[in-house]
Amino acid sequence: ADEFDLHICCMGAGYVGGPTMAVIAAKCPKVRVCVVDLSQKQIDAWNSPDLPIYEPGLPEVVAQCLGKNLFFSTDIDAEIKKADIVFISVNTPTKTMGIGAGRAANVKNCELCARKIAEVSESDKIVVEKSTVPVRTAQAVRRVLDCNERGLKFQVLSNPEFLAEGTAIPDLMSPDRVLIGGVQTPEGIAAAEKLAGVYANWVPREQILTTNLWSSELSKLVANAFLAQRVSSINSISALCEATGANVSEVSRCVGMDDRIGKRFLNSSIGFGGSCFQKDILNLVYLCETYGLQECADYWNQVILMNNYQKKRFSEKMVSSMFNTVTGKKIAILGFAFKKDTGDVRETPSMFVVRDLVMEQAKVHVYDPQVKREDMWVEMNYTCNLSEETHPGVEAAVTTSTSAYDACDGAHALAVLTEWDEFKELDYQKIYQKMAKPAFVFDGRNILDHEALRKIGFEVHAIGKPD
Ligand code: NAD
Ligand code: UGA
Repeated sequence: ADEFDLHICCMGAGYVGGPTMAVIAAKCPKVRVCVVDLSQKQIDAWNSPDLPIYEPGLPEVVAQCLGKNLFFSTDIDAEIKKADIVFISVNTPTKTMGIGAGRAANVKNCELCARKIAEVSESDKIVVEKSTVPVRTAQAVRRVLDCNERGLKFQVLSNPEFLAEGTAIPDLMSPDRVLIGGVQTPEGIAAAEKLAGVYANWVPREQILTTNLWSSELSKLVANAFLAQRVSSINSISALCEATGANVSEVSRCVGMDDRIGKRFLNSSIGFGGSCFQKDILNLVYLCETYGLQECADYWNQVILMNNYQKKRFSEKMVSSMFNTVTGKKIAILGFAFKKDTGDVRETPSMFVVRDLVMEQAKVHVYDPQVKREDMWVEMNYTCNLSEETHPGVEAAVTTSTSAYDACDGAHALAVLTEWDEFKELDYQKIYQKMAKPAFVFDGRNILDHEALRKIGFEVHAIGKPD
């Protein structure tokens, strides 16, 4: 017994588990929250001033609660035992081998968590799926839990997370909705109500939706698929704009002002990245195929094919604009993270551009305010199979610069690949003077003032704009 009304344990101290639990702790002083992980390094970082992820506003929230009602630990068994509610917030990456390789989501970590909970628990608990999972995963979790040897009763809920990286804290503080899926039995309804009660500390009741388990699991995949589909839709139009002289920013504005369509998520880019869009669409595609719905699978798969096309189109345009060769040329890459305000590089579209330029034997200089060189290479190796081992000399072909000015010094071209605000404020006159001529700008995010750059003397190419 202690001074807390409720004990929460969250398995997985990553991009979701850490920020989500920090906000629950901040909003619910009477709830004790402990985030556990297998990785000692990850837990040590959460307990230090140098958090393992970069997320605006996160250090303040963690500092406010750490050691009071928010804890990070590797003592998984003890923390599960203490908990009334256990969240499963572990990674569910696309399978790399076996049945469904390259498409199905790997739910191994979720099952391991369920087995751990069944093994060590000494009291009944609510188990909450926070990870994004294929529809009907909750059934597998429930069956594993039901095999516990003490006759304990577990209620399984689905509570997918909708935060976006870079805006995780505001997204968690005022979510559009909280979704809770549960079994429609008296015990299931009571469990959903208990979890809803936690969120109700700061989220208006009408924004807390309760559904059946399968609708909740599926809604998460569908939300990401719809968002990604908007990006692929506008990116497909960007290619048409370049061919016809239309301007994609003007088209987005005109189309988005229709309330039925809406303004957001219509920014044309070098393609979407991040750990989830592609993974979750592949997950949806695989589900459709599993149920024999090939037309539905093909429809959603096209969102990914369009994204691949957009990434490839960009690097090809760079090479063709620079007289069909970049061999030996220095090229500055501004931005490696998959979007601004994060250091996350999982599935970042910048990686594919860097890879293509390295394959053309360019000398690539990357500057990103938050990405560590080591993380960049881990991702290049994992997703592109590009490493010193597979391609000797490749690490020397990519320099990581400590400033945008260093990266651009003597370069033939600069390419903006992440929409960091600081790239809008650079002194492009100064940059131009130190670049090789003709000096090229490739704006992969349409954030720069193209007219001003042309006046300075740059040759500017941007997504979906007349050259
Ligand atoms: P992550 O890789 O950042 O973190 C997962 C953590 O779980 C890792 O630290 C890992 O060590 C730990 N872990 C794995 N197996 C474990 C086990 N058996 N016991 C204890 N810890 C274990 O992943 P993430 O980005 O936080 O994503 C987690 C889930 O949330 C995924 O299903 C993802 O699809 C979903 N999601 C992610 C985001 C996002 O923005 N990243 C947003 C919404 C939903
Ligand atoms: C996305 C969703 O927005 C979240 O709701 C969801 O919880 C999360 O996935 C998840 O399940 O992981 P996230 O990937 O963090 O969040 O970031 P987004 O803002 O969605 O951006 C994804 C990618 O799309 C980025 O590469 C971004 O640059 C790109 N994008 C986004 C565009 O190219 N154009 C746009 O208009 C919007």
